[in-house]
Amino acid sequence: MAVKFSHVDFTYAPKSPFQFDALHDINLVIKDESFTAVIGHTGSGKSTLIQHINALLIPTSGVVQIEDSLILPTKKKKYLRRIKRKLKNKKVKAEQKERLAFLQSIVLAHKTYKVKELRKKVGVVFQFPEYQLFEETVIKDVAFGPRNFGVSAADASLLAKEALTMVGINESFYARSPFELSGGEKRRVAIAGILALKPEILVLDEPTAGLDPLSAAQMMETFAKIHKNGTTIVLVTHDMDLVLRYASDVVVMKDGKILEETTPVKLFADVKEEYSLEVPTFYAVMQELVKRGCPLDISKINNVSDLAKMLKSLKEKV
Ligand SMILES: Nc1ncnc2c1ncn2[C@@H]1O[C@H](COP(=O)(O)OP(=O)(O)OP(=O)(O)O)[C@@H](O)[C@H]1O
Ligand SMILES: [Mg+2]
Repeated sequence: MAVKFSHVDFTYAPKSPFQFDALHDINLVIKDESFTAVIGHTGSGKSTLIQHINALLIPTSGVVQIEDSLILPTKKKKYLRRIKRKLKNKKVKAEQKERLAFLQSIVLAHKTYKVKELRKKVGVVFQFPEYQLFEETVIKDVAFGPRNFGVSAADASLLAKEALTMVGINESFYARSPFELSGGEKRRVAIAGILALKPEILVLDEPTAGLDPLSAAQMMETFAKIHKNGTTIVLVTHDMDLVLRYASDVVVMKDGKILEETTPVKLFADVKEEYSLEVPTFYAVMQELVKRGCPLDISKINNVSDLAKMLKSLKEKV
């Protein structure tokens, strides 16, 4: 399922002393079945952006379209009235009127989401998913989501077991309290809770932060498998190795704005100084090899193992 942001602004705690404008005129398309990485400095608005995809946060203005339905700042009629009022207002600038007319046309042409319907399609694993746990046992916690959407107890239990297996949690954990697990185990269980819903869009906010390297790698492979089966994935991360290894597309954010929508290969081939991001080490090694005359096609290699294979085959040709 594709996600489209049109002129989305978001303000935390509006009209209060803590008011903070966190997103500014976001226009973005997350392609259907893509694996889209969202990157940017701490505080650039990544978590704020992705929480709009399941309406945990609602645009202050602008619309988010998921497939053929919309998430709006207010009820549809009220939002249309607000747009109309502004369009008539002589003080509103022509440029803003153009945006408003565009938004009006989108709103008129689509229906809006009921939150429950949306949450079934979009699963979000928060930055600290362990806070999402609340049931008495691991299995109940993971089965809660499907149960909440009307799945029978027996089927929900099957879905839960399947999801727990995917994240590497075995039967011995099922009856344990989620609160008595290690940090990494809690995270796996919380992720399983989202996977059990089989969302069409899976949004992951730094899902591997704090996991040991092996667990993190296994978790990423699980997400890659889910992606291969047709799920659209949005991954917020600070880890450029993951971007290069898994992402098909990259969104670069800064100060609540989108700086660029690109691909990993294009991003790393010509890193703009203002992004101040760290190029993956092995990518830098490849660049150095090319610089020294090694005939590598960097755009086709995104992991160490493939680089090794490529070097070996080049050596054999010599
Ligand atoms: N509840 C809130 N109330 C007010 N401001 C907030 C709130 N949550 C976040 N912000 C502010 O909004 C901005 C964007 O925050 P956000 O959490 O989206 O950043 P981020 O890119 O996810 O950062 P990180 O990489 O640290 O997770 C930050 O400046 C932050 O201080
Ligand atoms: Mg964040």
